[in-house]
Amino acid sequence: MTYENAVEAAEFIKLKSGKAPKIAVVLGSGLGAFADDLENAVRLPYDGIPHFVRSTVEGHAGQLVIGEVDGVSIAVQQGRFHYYEGYDMQQVMFPMRVFARMGIETVILTNAAGSLNSEMAPGSLMLISDHINMMGVNPLRGPNDARFGPRFPDMTQVYDRELQKIANNAANAIADERAAAGTDSERHDFMHRGVYCALSGPTYETPTEIRLYRILGADAVGMSTVPEAIAARHQGMRVLGISCITNFGAGMLDQPIDHQEVMETGARVAGIFKDLLCRIVKAAN
Ligand code: HPA
Repeated sequence: MTYENAVEAAEFIKLKSGKAPKIAVVLGSGLGAFADDLENAVRLPYDGIPHFVRSTVEGHAGQLVIGEVDGVSIAVQQGRFHYYEGYDMQQVMFPMRVFARMGIETVILTNAAGSLNSEMAPGSLMLISDHINMMGVNPLRGPNDARFGPRFPDMTQVYDRELQKIANNAANAIADERAAAGTDSERHDFMHRGVYCALSGPTYETPTEIRLYRILGADAVGMSTVPEAIAARHQGMRVLGISCITNFGAGMLDQPIDHQEVMETGARVAGIFKDLLCRIVKAAN
């Protein structure tokens, strides 16, 4: 995947959509509904975009939706490319490279994740403060094209502080409004903050691995996001990461983990999640 490939895909998307969004959102497993009701939406299936590959995982539609939230243009990836599907990292991070060529400055990366913290229950959200890359590979390995960014990118502050503040304020406002309206019987803080640990998957972890990652300082585990966050920071884009906690890590409860549960929890928080993303997009623009 070359710089020219990314430019070609970006030109195609600009031409087809007629829009120039500054914000992109990547929707994780079970969180695809946000893209369904964007205003003035143009939907571009991945297999029609130059150099994109198809996404194969259940629960991922596999299209780029360019639309608006209250007049703010955004590009939304409904379905992403995971390393566990067999794509190489060039393919996994390609959309980030296309986004940067489109002039996008801010990316909001979302995912489904397992909790390592008994206080952080399924159905809550976690603002990603930092990550641990345990995928066994760095997406930027290989020759570096300096037009994307530097050979040795700094990772001191991957997840933008200002965006974290915006997301936190939005979550607080939602919690206040729900309590005031009686939607929640008492005020319920659903937004946590913590470290996301990325693993290659596709197996879920063993209970011993979960204990290991907790000792290492992780609060949540998942199989995505970090390659995209690295590619986005490499190119100087601002990154926000939000995990939807869909289950407790293996061994924390006396029950197995399955993908169905992950998808169902995503669907359960879809309303709050959509509201949150809308507020963040408007405040971050
Ligand atoms: N582990 C890894 N990835 C995940 C999990 C998990 O428990 N839940 C959702 N994605």
